[in-house]
Parts: sequence; C-alpha cells; structure tokens
Amino acid sequence: MSAPTTAGQRWTLRGTHTEYTVTVPAHGRWLELVAWGPHGVSDGPSPVAYDGPVPFLTTGDAAPIEYATDADRPFTGADLVVETPAGQRRVGFGHTDVLADADQRELAVGFADPVTGLRATVHYRVPVGTDVVQRWVELTNAGTGPLRVVRAGSAGFCVPTPHGALLSHQWGQWAQEFQLSHVELGHGTFSIGSTQGVPGHLHVPWLAVRDTAEPAGPTWGVALAWTGSWEISAERDTGGLTRLRVGRQLVDGPLELAPGDRLTLPVVTGAYSPDGLDGLARVWHTHQRLLAGTRLTPRPVLYNSWEATYFAVEAESQLALAKIAADLGVETFVVDDGWFVGRGDDTAGLGDWTPDPAKFPAGFDAFIAEVRGLGLNFGLWVEPECVNPRSRLYAEHPDWVYAVDGRPLTPVRNQYLLDLGRPEVADFVHSTVDGLLRRYDIDYLKWDFNRPRTEPGRPGGVAPLDLDGAHVANLHRIYERLRRDHPGVLIEACAGGGARTDLAMAARADVFWPSDNTGPLDRLAIQHGFLHANAPHLLSSWVTDAPGLFDQRPRTLAFRFVLAMAGVLGIGADIRAWTPAQRSEAAGWIARYKEIRDVVTHGEAYLIGGPDQARCAVQYVAPDERRVVVLAWHTGRLDGAGSLPARPVRLPLRGLDPAARYRHGDQHYSGSHLSAVGLPVQWSPTHDADLIVLHRD
Ligand code: DGJ
Repeated sequence: MSAPTTAGQRWTLRGTHTEYTVTVPAHGRWLELVAWGPHGVSDGPSPVAYDGPVPFLTTGDAAPIEYATDADRPFTGADLVVETPAGQRRVGFGHTDVLADADQRELAVGFADPVTGLRATVHYRVPVGTDVVQRWVELTNAGTGPLRVVRAGSAGFCVPTPHGALLSHQWGQWAQEFQLSHVELGHGTFSIGSTQGVPGHLHVPWLAVRDTAEPAGPTWGVALAWTGSWEISAERDTGGLTRLRVGRQLVDGPLELAPGDRLTLPVVTGAYSPDGLDGLARVWHTHQRLLAGTRLTPRPVLYNSWEATYFAVEAESQLALAKIAADLGVETFVVDDGWFVGRGDDTAGLGDWTPDPAKFPAGFDAFIAEVRGLGLNFGLWVEPECVNPRSRLYAEHPDWVYAVDGRPLTPVRNQYLLDLGRPEVADFVHSTVDGLLRRYDIDYLKWDFNRPRTEPGRPGGVAPLDLDGAHVANLHRIYERLRRDHPGVLIEACAGGGARTDLAMAARADVFWPSDNTGPLDRLAIQHGFLHANAPHLLSSWVTDAPGLFDQRPRTLAFRFVLAMAGVLGIGADIRAWTPAQRSEAAGWIARYKEIRDVVTHGEAYLIGGPDQARCAVQYVAPDERRVVVLAWHTGRLDGAGSLPARPVRLPLRGLDPAARYRHGDQHYSGSHLSAVGLPVQWSPTHDADLIVLHRD
C-alpha cells in the first residue's frame, strides 16, 4: 500500500466506455461512490450525492457508501457485521492507505478499526476490454483477540433511480430455470438468495436495475462469483437511491477470524450499459468471453444419450446412437448417467465410479475406441460430490457425508452429499475424476450435482465450521486443477439443470447445462433469461424428441434446431427412431450450425423481443461485421381450432452500419432499413423458426 491520501481525493477506474469514481470523505470513515456510468459521468455534480444528515437516521444511512459496516449504516443495511466473542459489534473503520495503478484499472483502499484491529481492503478491478468492475474485500484480523464475521457482504453498489427502481431478476425451479421477471421497487427492500450450498434453481445470483422512467436507458447490474449460498438485496431509500448489497450468505453461522487470519470474500461484478437490459447482456457476454480466455472456441456439436436411454446405458445401444450421431455430423458423443457399477436407477451406485463390466462386456476402453472409431470425440457424465447410501463408497466412508450428530440424514434423489471441504474427500473427488481422465480417452466431462446441502454439520460435531466456504473453495480448486492437467477436456457444469451457474463457474467451466427442460417454448423462455446473464458459448442446448417431457406445445424440428443453435448445439433425442427424412433434415441443420457457430461464439448478441412477444429472435453480429446471423422463432399458437396462419413479422435489427448493404439470397437491404423497418419473416404452421444469414457487401 502507498502512503495515506489527501482528504476528498478521488480515484477513477476506466472501462471501455464506462467509468467508476470513488472518494474517501474528509472524515475518512468509509469510501463513497461519486459516479458510475459512461465516460465523463464523474464530471459535474454527482448523481448519487446526498445532502448531509438525515433526521432520525445517520449520515451513513444516506451516503452512497461502497462498503458499509453496521457502524456506518446502522439502520439501512450493512455489508459487514463483525463482533467480538462478547458479542460487541459496530466495527468503525478509519481510512489508512491506498494503492491505485496508473492505468486506472486497479484500486485497493485500506481501512482499519482501532478497537478490534480488524483491517479491510476494498478492491476494485476493471478487466481490459470490458465495462465491468470487479469488487471484493479482504479482511484481516490484525488485532489480538478472535473476531466473528456475522455478515460478509462483498460490496455495496449505489444506483440513481429518481423515479423508482425497475429491478430485473431471474427466478425458477427445476425444469423452469432463468425466468426473467421485473419488479418495480418504490421503497423498501427486495431480496433474493440461496441457502442451498449451491447457487440454486430458485434464483440466479444476478440482478439488474434501471430507473422506471427510462427502461431502455442506463442500466446497472451485479452478478456474484460464488458457487455456494448467497444473497443479493436492493433497497431504495426515500431520496431515490437504490443500494445493492451482494455477497455470501453465511448459512453455517458466523465465520471465525482468529488473530492473524485473513478472509477474502468472493468477487462481485458490477456492469453498466446505456442500452437497457439487452445492452447489459452484451456487457456480461464480453466479460464472460474474457473469463474463458483462450478456451473461447466454438464448441463441438454433441450428442448426449440421457433422454434416449436414461439409466439403461450399455454398449450396444450407445454404439447404435453413436453411429447415427456420427452420420448426422455430431462431433462429441457423451454417455450420461448409468455407465458405472450398481447404477441401474437413481437409488444406487453414486460414488463407485467404475464402468459396469456387465454393460460394457468388451471393456470400457474398447467401447470408447469404437465410439472414436466413428470419428467422434468421447464425453462422460459424473456426479462426484454425491453418494448413494447403496454404494461401496458409503459403506466404507459413511462419515464423509454432511451430517448433524444424532439427526437423520436427508436424502434428496436418494443421495447424500459428500463433505468436499474435508481434505480426504477433496482428494477422493479429484483423484476419481482425474483418474477417469487419465485412464480413458475422454474429451468432454459433464459434471452434475443433483441435490442441495441440507445438513449443516460434520460427524463428530466439530464446530464452528465454514462448510459452505470450504466446499466451494475445494470445488473451484478441483476444477482448476483438472483444467490445468487436462487442458483438452471441455467441462460442462450441470446441477440438475441450471442450479450452478455463477461467474465463478463461468470462469472454470466451458459450458453450462441450463435446464433439463428442452420443450420448445419453455426452452425459449429459459434461454431468453439465460442469455441476459450468460454468453452464448456457455449455453448448452439439445434438440430432443417431440412432444417431450415438459412443454408439449407443438413445434417443428426446425424450431428445435434453430433454438439449440442459439448457443452450443447438441442432440438429446432418440435418433434411432428418427425417420430418414428427419435425419437428413438434422444433418442439414448441423452443417449450417458449423457454418455460423463462430459468429454465435464470438459475435455481439442482440436479444430481440421475447418469448411472450410476437417478435422473438437473437441476432449475432460477427466481430468483423461481415456476417449477421438471425435466429427467429414464432411464439404464437400453432395448434387448436381456429388457428390462423401467422402473419409476417419484421425484426428490427441492431448494431448494423446504417450505410452498409446487407444481402440475404437475392434480397438486398440497407443497414438503416433493417434497423428502422426490420427484416421480414413470414411464419406459417409449418414454418415456425428461421435461420437467416446476412452478408455485408
Ligand atoms: C440431471 C441432469 O440435468 C440431466 O441432464 C442428467 O444428466 C441427469 N441428471 C442424470 O442423472
């Protein structure tokens, strides 16, 4: 850290189009936001400034504080609450020092509490090429006595919402994840979170905020990089400021901080766009592409056998599927749940990760070699953090699962959860997966997780323990180690569908499985929500059979393909039953996907309309702007008496050069026409989806 700073000094962090400016007021007790928005927003009066003391509250309750203790904001919500063993709270910081880099990309502002000795460093980082600000806090107990962290938020974000706050969030349940909803917050608090030890199906650790008067205008968002329990709240005060609190939810109770201990809280990322929710989505996409780094490559077209065979996996049926898949142009064949000993259904086998010789009589190696002989890469499903009571692993290590002494265990999907925070369990999980990757010729791993953590304890009643923190830390380490040691293996993160998608996983996994629901119109809504928070390269999507398990509203095979092409195309249907005509159509779509997937992966995505609107499309503009890919879906009814042929729609495209000419077949359009008038799409009951590629002249 550098020397102390002068009172009132400001620091500005600069993104590609945005800036984020903070200051320490003269009293030095906290850090305040000056402005967050487009370049230049910090000039002139601050949009979040306050006028001083507020009757019956404290100054801190009204100030745009960046990281507030309960001493700073006693009434309106603190980010950090720490107590001594005697239960004494109200840590009050004083500013100590600051470290700011010359590039205006990184900032670390130090504070110390003279009473307890607690130190906090508030960190900021703006990754090059983005409009996001990453924030986290490092706490150090530099005092002589132990401390307990009761609330451990990572950051507070202040957003000006003079007319009211329009919040956008994503809620759901199993098979209905990523439902995008909007809430007008006049005054009071809105909160979402998870206590499940996993981000969960119920809410996504992501929130967007706009002023109600300008829904298509300036939009701010936050997303958390934490794969455990979390909370996000938004509180709008009487003066029109909305403050977001984001961080871990301490489900296991307070965190112990012994003298000398250091605790780094998870990164929360803030994003800004002047262009509403759709613009904000592109800010998130850019950020996640950078998180993917050199692994950002168009993903292979995969086939997954889950819906075709469920647990009845055995060599013959898998090879029959693989043969057809290869003929269709599929590149990776993934064997899902059911390949290992004891796994005839979901009541047994988890934990015993040995291929079942009865299912692969010629040996698993020989089976994989046959799949590869078809020109396919090979992928495998695992769920290494879980165990069935009916397994050898559980018989040998019943103490490895989360448990509260004297209390019954809670099975979910007939399985228990391994306590990954224990070193021996982390070793087991790592060596199991690593062993499979070394032993077999595997290119793709689907890592599943099908239950939340219910038991807040470890056999023997050792307490207190940060079970959530230890589980997440080891999970992340294992993912990182596997990636390092097996760089060619793509990892798909799945948790009974989309219960494990957060920014930490986006940085460690190559693709997400967002939902088990692949029914066409349901899936459209799921993907619509997902793409607001996640980049297309993370969106795994399968074409499955009609009418399917969930949404039985009829849609064509073309609809299903175009929908799955919005991210990473896969097939999950029982293709053995497909007719020659269906197979030939599928092969055609797969070939077309291979032509456009570089644009889907690297292009700028524009979300047009939505699943409950007459217009629904995703438009991708290639980085060199020479190609524009439009995927469009007919959202209206196609069944039932009285259905009329659908009327044509025009899709207003965005991000085009108004002066440029674009060509689709023998149609020619100007960029300005496509933006103002739109690209025409004609629907009919047999034509309910379209893939249009426009070439710039
Ligand atoms: C849940 C996943 O979401 C499914 O795709 C499938 O892998 C099953 N688990 C297997 O048990």
